[in-house]
Amino acid sequence: MNKKHYYIKTFGCQMNVYDSERIANILETLGYSPANTPKAADLIIFNTCHIREKAAEKVFSDLGRAYNIKQERAEEGKDTIIGVMGCVVQAEDEQIAKRAPFVDFATGPLTYHRLPEILAKIGRKKGHPVIDTEFPVESKFDFLPENHSTGGCSYIAIQEGCNNFCTYCVVPYTRGVECSRPVEDVLTEAKRLVSEGTLEINLLGQNVNSYHGEDKNGKERNLAYLLREIAQIDGLQRIRYTTSYPADVDDDLVACHHDLKQLMPYLHLPIQSGSDKILKAMNRRHNSADYLRVVEKLQNANPDLRMSSDFIVGFPGEDDADFQATLDIVNQVKFIQAFSFKYSRRAGTPAAVMKNQVEEKVKKERLDILQDLLFSYQRKFNEASVGKVMPVLFDMKGRHAGQLIGRTPYMQNLHAEIGKEFLNKIVNVKVTEATTNSLSGIKEG
Ligand code: 5AD
Ligand code: SF4
Repeated sequence: MNKKHYYIKTFGCQMNVYDSERIANILETLGYSPANTPKAADLIIFNTCHIREKAAEKVFSDLGRAYNIKQERAEEGKDTIIGVMGCVVQAEDEQIAKRAPFVDFATGPLTYHRLPEILAKIGRKKGHPVIDTEFPVESKFDFLPENHSTGGCSYIAIQEGCNNFCTYCVVPYTRGVECSRPVEDVLTEAKRLVSEGTLEINLLGQNVNSYHGEDKNGKERNLAYLLREIAQIDGLQRIRYTTSYPADVDDDLVACHHDLKQLMPYLHLPIQSGSDKILKAMNRRHNSADYLRVVEKLQNANPDLRMSSDFIVGFPGEDDADFQATLDIVNQVKFIQAFSFKYSRRAGTPAAVMKNQVEEKVKKERLDILQDLLFSYQRKFNEASVGKVMPVLFDMKGRHAGQLIGRTPYMQNLHAEIGKEFLNKIVNVKVTEATTNSLSGIKEG
């Protein structure tokens, strides 16, 4: 019998990238292997993102293309299963059934461990989509097959969901309430990955620093405890965690940035806006002074620490003075990387029905101004790296033979002409050139 092939297209955040890898693990236990193109796949999966309208709409155009592929393959006598997974399913299952009735199954981000059952049901229920958008009582992590290290850098989801209910955000509705994995489960996974060659672990969660997993005695432990345990794993060189919520950065966590040499000097800590009026309307539990205080504490703990952030412009009610406050905070913190977005109205969230929506034209103007400023700091930081020697973890092949791409401690992408024997190794590199988005360098010594 011919082996079956799968193709997964992933949208959105790092958590979705992680979920897609786990979906691939499940499919491989079912005898599937990866296809290079959707046309070569018996099973096409879209792992979707609902955070902004653009990402969610893109799925529907991709589904149209997948339907054409399904028809072309049918003419060649081949069956194709089309599945939609992730946050769009949780929020828009009825829309999917209406706008893409040819979809064979749809399942939310918390139920993808049920994929084997779902695929079996499709065989029995031809012509009816199988839809699973339950918030299950069981944790998917208890049912997933083991993941394996691919070398350099591995992700571990330690926490999922969010209880913060920022008024613009769909996450609490699509990923559900906060839930932390037990300490021992995370440590077992981390030790296994390191024994297989992982040098860097990135702990993932929507609100990763509100982690409160139970240890083996049933005692709740925080992220700082988990970081200290993970830092003891022999052979592990680097630790990162993302994404954090400013109000949940406690003193224990700050101390880790002083004590743990493996903890990288780069932290993604979304602020969203510099205006206290807007932060309040967003239901964030911090104002701009709180944020600056947290950054100061972290940088006192580790003076090398540099910050990255997320911003939203054009939130309902944002006027010129509010926007100026956002520019002011950028000038104070000098973020070395950032993601910035125009506010996108998401059905079902409180901000979507606020009366004072900002015009699209104004949002665009503000985004352009903010991005120019953010990029100027990113470029300055990159340019200041030229001439320095930095340890780089090379975990990707570049476009041409001999070229590898890696990450500096500050998450800068660095390209180097260096033999492929250095793939998945940490190498000291002298930075020779910088652009806004990346560095180039040569092996030192
Ligand atoms: N509109 C624009 N950006 C949003 N984000 C979340 N929800 C929205 C929205 N409705 C941004 C926030 C968050 C990042 C992951 O996406 O900046 O930190
Ligand atoms: Fe969304 Fe706010 Fe939770 Fe982040 S903290 S996932 S922005 S609700």
